[in-house]
Amino acid sequence: MHALTPDTLEQTARLLHDVVTTGLAHKSADTVYAARATTGQLRDLLLTDLPDAQSSPEQIWRELTDTVLPYCVNMNSPRFLGFGDTGADTASLAAGLFAVLAQQNLINQSFCSPSGTFTEIAVLRWLRDLIGYTNPPADQVTSVWDAGGITTYGGTGSNAAAMMLAREHAAPGTLARGITDPGRFALIVPKGIGHYSVKSAATWIGCGAHITEVDTHDFRYDLPALARAVKTGRGRTMAVVAYAGDSRTQTVDHLRAVAETVRAHDPDVWLHTDACWGLMCALTPRLAHRLDGIDLFDSVTVDPHKVLNVPYGASALLLRDPAALRLISSYSDLIMQEDFAFGQVTPFIGTKEWTSLRTWAALRALGRQGLAQVMDERLERARYFADLVDTRPGLLRLNEPDMCAVAFLVLPDGHDPQAPDVERINHLNRAVHARILAEGTWHLHHFTIPDDTGRVRRGALLAPLRFVSINPRITEAHMAGVLDYVTALARQAQQ
Ligand SMILES: Cc1ncc(COP(=O)(O)O)c(C=O)c1O
Repeated sequence: MHALTPDTLEQTARLLHDVVTTGLAHKSADTVYAARATTGQLRDLLLTDLPDAQSSPEQIWRELTDTVLPYCVNMNSPRFLGFGDTGADTASLAAGLFAVLAQQNLINQSFCSPSGTFTEIAVLRWLRDLIGYTNPPADQVTSVWDAGGITTYGGTGSNAAAMMLAREHAAPGTLARGITDPGRFALIVPKGIGHYSVKSAATWIGCGAHITEVDTHDFRYDLPALARAVKTGRGRTMAVVAYAGDSRTQTVDHLRAVAETVRAHDPDVWLHTDACWGLMCALTPRLAHRLDGIDLFDSVTVDPHKVLNVPYGASALLLRDPAALRLISSYSDLIMQEDFAFGQVTPFIGTKEWTSLRTWAALRALGRQGLAQVMDERLERARYFADLVDTRPGLLRLNEPDMCAVAFLVLPDGHDPQAPDVERINHLNRAVHARILAEGTWHLHHFTIPDDTGRVRRGALLAPLRFVSINPRITEAHMAGVLDYVTALARQAQQ
């Protein structure tokens, strides 16, 4: 076995130097893919038998660079415009690599993560502060129950923990007793714009899929409809979920109005905000007002790996009342019964990777000023792209960007705004997206969304493309380039 010892230190350092150089070359390339192969070809290339013979680490690295790396996506390419997961913040990359080497396990503090636990708590406190939750003074943080939240590996995990909290809040002791009345744990979500993770979480934690979907306007809750749903569901609803930045257009709901509407009819229901994207509003004074009222929500999910250029997987669930974590704590003699053992408060996670250090480094390196500057530049790019779409014939923009997302449709030849053929429009956009995926020279995201702004036909289900302005490498030329490309694909698709 080749392992790190003082004797192999130099050899290992040379290898890792090569890994870093190659990895950085991959990330800094202009292209989205170096090579393309079909799914079947990749399966046949990579699903091989476990060999009998040993290989050196260098041989394994060569195999990776030859057979795996060429097909890896480069989300830091300025042509990858579907979402913003660049993972390219330099301080964060350095911290992430260091954390892999340091091999701390945040399940416990005393003997397996003496200092790492406190960088994690610092991150939680910075995130809380950014979104507008208050923190106790540092010298009053005496246990994980004062930290104000937990970090997880993604928004899905954070939302799932939030749903567990909602369940325990609705029926304390369910953790121990199990669910006896599934109808007690209904969820209220906005229709057509939410993320599946919230609904899936309810099913994963045994609550079943008792979901009330409330109509939206402008990609936000229709408040009278929300009030009706809350009134009707009173006593059977465990949580109402709002989006500070939905998965599609990143629209931020009117959080204060949502919270007040819900509380007026059901003072006890758990209020959760999914701010995986909405954390971006906390980065710049230009957008801070959009989070007004978020401090009225019991829990908030944020996803640094989506919005801070932090490598995967870095997410956090923040709690208005830090002590609420007691509702979902685990006690075992296999986890240290010590004040700062995060293993006690992170459902589904035992061994806990130090991924929060990536967020720690990004926030620490940028500071408030840097965060604001980065975010303001993103907003300018989003505005530029939105205006560009508006000036191009044959394209139709669907949202007024709150943050970095611009959803738009390619319109078919002969499109009549008075009598839109929604099926034909969607068919064309699906065909364009299929070509985008097949060719791999650019990337835009694609999904379905209700036509909440009535730009085609109010209420119709549309299948647009989406641009996201997060990557700082995106220039005006890239924005024009992807629209030229999309227009050309639409022309080909209609020939
Ligand atoms: C609003 C929202 N919530 C939750 C998630 C899930 O996050 P993750 O993929 O980090 O688990 C996403 C992912 O796109 C999202 O857009």
